[in-house]
Amino acid sequence: MTEYFDITTENILSELEKTQKNFWNISRVTGEFIYTLIKAANCKNALEIGTSNGYSGIWLGKALKETGGHLTTIEFWEKRFSIARENFKTCGINDVISIIQGSACDVLKDLPEDFKIDFAFIDANKKEYIEYFNLIHPHLVPGGFICCDNILSHKEKTQSFIDGINNHPDYENVVLNLPAGLSLGRKIR
Ligand SMILES: C[S@@+](CC[C@H](N)C(=O)[O-])C[C@H]1O[C@@H](n2cnc3c(N)ncnc32)[C@H](O)[C@@H]1O
Repeated sequence: MTEYFDITTENILSELEKTQKNFWNISRVTGEFIYTLIKAANCKNALEIGTSNGYSGIWLGKALKETGGHLTTIEFWEKRFSIARENFKTCGINDVISIIQGSACDVLKDLPEDFKIDFAFIDANKKEYIEYFNLIHPHLVPGGFICCDNILSHKEKTQSFIDGINNHPDYENVVLNLPAGLSLGRKIR
């Protein structure tokens, strides 16, 4: 297994991987993919929906720390929000992450018009993916990415999103055969 980070962060990731199923975290390989993509594309303004205990946020935050970027992540469950905040602090990335506690659609509706995103990661209520997509669309810059987890593991619930993005003239989208199925969409205009 490749080690990417300082020993403290690697230890936190290993600990969180032991309880992955309880907190519905992404797989390690999905984290590695997202981390590599953010750095390769030099993304700087990321948004995550579904923080949980911060496992995916650590991969996002570590990449953004290198690109000089920032992550806004949304979670409505107080207990998870608090655990994530501690994990971000321990991993030394709390300075590049804002956690918003609230319901994703409400938070997205309240984003200022000039809130620009070049990397969106969606991993919350599967049935709401299409709503998140429609609300994120005006904020996503051309060339920006929208990645969604659980596309294959929750095929039925996420189908309306897949249909929506595949039929949208502004997007190219593929579904990658990573553990739960990760869609990778790019806004092309
Ligand atoms: C699959 S888990 C996220 C896992 C996280 N991305 C990771 O890999 O570490 C989904 C999280 O989204 C939160 N969630 C679900 N629906 C939400 C909503 N409508 N607004 C905000 N958070 C939501 C849940 O409480 C849960 O913690």
